[in-house]
Amino acid sequence: MKRKPDTIFITFEKALKKRFAVGAFNFYNLETLQAILEAGEAMASPVICSVSEGALKYMGIDATVMMFDALTEKKKYPAYLHLDHGKSFEVCRKAIDAGFDSVMIDGSSLPFDENVKLTKRVVKYADKHGVFVEGEIGTLSGIEDNVEVEDKDARFTNPKEAKQFVMQTGVNSVAVAIGTSHGAYKFSGEPKLRIDILSEIEKELGKFPIVLHGASTVDAKIVRQINARGGKIKGAKGVSPKELALICSEHNVCKVNVDTDLRLCFIASLRKNLKASPKEINPRFFLSDAREEMKNLVISKIKLFQGNL
Ligand code: G3H
Ligand code: 13P
Ligand code: ZN
Repeated sequence: MKRKPDTIFITFEKALKKRFAVGAFNFYNLETLQAILEAGEAMASPVICSVSEGALKYMGIDATVMMFDALTEKKKYPAYLHLDHGKSFEVCRKAIDAGFDSVMIDGSSLPFDENVKLTKRVVKYADKHGVFVEGEIGTLSGIEDNVEVEDKDARFTNPKEAKQFVMQTGVNSVAVAIGTSHGAYKFSGEPKLRIDILSEIEKELGKFPIVLHGASTVDAKIVRQINARGGKIKGAKGVSPKELALICSEHNVCKVNVDTDLRLCFIASLRKNLKASPKEINPRFFLSDAREEMKNLVISKIKLFQGNL
């Protein structure tokens, strides 16, 4: 399918203007992609289908694009294929050449000037192909990142640096660090996000699309279900859904990334059915239920990112 360029830019403009966020959901096989797309259709909403470098390796770039194109050909509402956390110019170039709608170049672990240089190079290439580019500035914090810093605020995005970054690179959106982190263990104590820093960034950037990574809410009920069925996930904690709904409806956050919650949901379903149906050997029996539960979860995320709890 030949995708229509520009629609992703229009989607971000709408999100910024109307104050909602588009959900960016990670997929890594047929069922997870179907779940995301079906949820988008059910909600008459755009969705961003994210592929990490790991997922790209797992599926292969050609199969990823062909599967995405085949499944989206007859869709009514837009779905965008997005590279999540591309770490090099080469991987972004490959994704752009293969037909991705959007790429994230993640130079956030580099010194500022190197991040700018790398991001600028990707923007220049992407521009020629009408592809949307997300950059990142700041270090996603949390108990996983093992980064020892003297000044605790140093790990968060510096609002003035964010402005410099956006101006110097020409990115279309920017991912910021305000206290979220990837994975199921986001907070050792009370979940706390730096909304004050987000507001400062917004003051610096004006009306500009901001992206929130590490936004899974890690539902305690699902974690309990997994643990009750043989899983071992202890001390998991995510972002508060209430705070997330507020962030989406009162700030310039236009894209919210979710992977961990989808994984938890999929695994909880598999564990439940594997235990309940020990004689069943048809993988489709298990996968179809997991897909349905993931679809329902994506629907609830879309509602949340529209500001509805
Ligand atoms: O942002 C990271 C995503 O959760 C992707 O994780 O590299 O294991 O696919 P992954
Ligand atoms: P979670 O691990 O909180 O789902 O975040 C996913 C993410 O940011 C993907 O880029
Ligand atoms: Zn991320």
